[in-house]
Amino acid sequence: MNSVRRFGAKLTSPESVFHLPAVQALFYQILSFSLVLLIARGLVAIFDISVNLWLAAFFQGLLAACFSCWRKLASWWLAIQLFFPLVLLFALSLQLPPMLFMLGFLALLFLYWTTFRTQVPFYPSGSATWQAVAELLPQELAIRFIDIGSGLGGLTLNLAERRPESEFTGIEIAPLPWLVSVLRVFLTRSRARFKRGDYRHLDFAAYDVVFAYLSPVAMPALWEKARAEMRAGTLLLSYEFLIPDVVPTMVIAPLVNHRQIYCWRM
Ligand SMILES: C[S@@+](CC[C@H](N)C(=O)[O-])C[C@H]1O[C@@H](n2cnc3c(N)ncnc32)[C@H](O)[C@@H]1O
Repeated sequence: MNSVRRFGAKLTSPESVFHLPAVQALFYQILSFSLVLLIARGLVAIFDISVNLWLAAFFQGLLAACFSCWRKLASWWLAIQLFFPLVLLFALSLQLPPMLFMLGFLALLFLYWTTFRTQVPFYPSGSATWQAVAELLPQELAIRFIDIGSGLGGLTLNLAERRPESEFTGIEIAPLPWLVSVLRVFLTRSRARFKRGDYRHLDFAAYDVVFAYLSPVAMPALWEKARAEMRAGTLLLSYEFLIPDVVPTMVIAPLVNHRQIYCWRM
């Protein structure tokens, strides 16, 4: 895998909050807003020219995208920066009730929680992946399995149903997906278990199989943790994301959507 040097796809942990791509992106928007406001006020004061709001929003986005490019944020941040002020202006022009914005904000907050810090957003795997993982699990004995970052719990619930003799656990940092998982356990009377917390504080030695569907940013630290804690002969599985410079023991491919499952025997 190519090592990526742009922030937002960085392979090492950022040292301070300001090095987090989301925090930098916010700072560049605030800076661009201040500059555009200053120029707009200057144009009014000196030439009596008032600036169109949409044009100002466009220039704010353009400026923020330029700052982000200069500071080497990942390419997707450039598009986000460019369109953010325009989308904001459009949303305001709809004149929706403020409560709707508050509800949207709260829903996203409880769904994504510390994604700005972990750089591992929520997106679920599907049934083709669950089937492939089920086939990769040791078949002859009862196992202890954990999905680190279990999202809505789909994989853990599915495997718990297939393998009633084994223990399936999910750990999830964001409150909303965790709550949905717990409700699903209750409604389906599953034997799966869900913890709310950060997998980085978990001891991997307690598990025979650790499954991860995270992001490229998380993989180097995950490998260090797995190497330090997982017992010999146990399995580390990663859906879609490789560990840089560590050759997997096995690769299962292709799945329906051509993403692969990488498998390392410790
Ligand atoms: C790509 S989703 C995968 C969801 C699930 N494993 C699946 O296959 O459907 C990644 C999940 O990891 C969670 N997450 C990110 N960092 C985490 C951490 N340090 N500890 C626990 N969960 C984390 C996110 O909140 C998100 O729900």
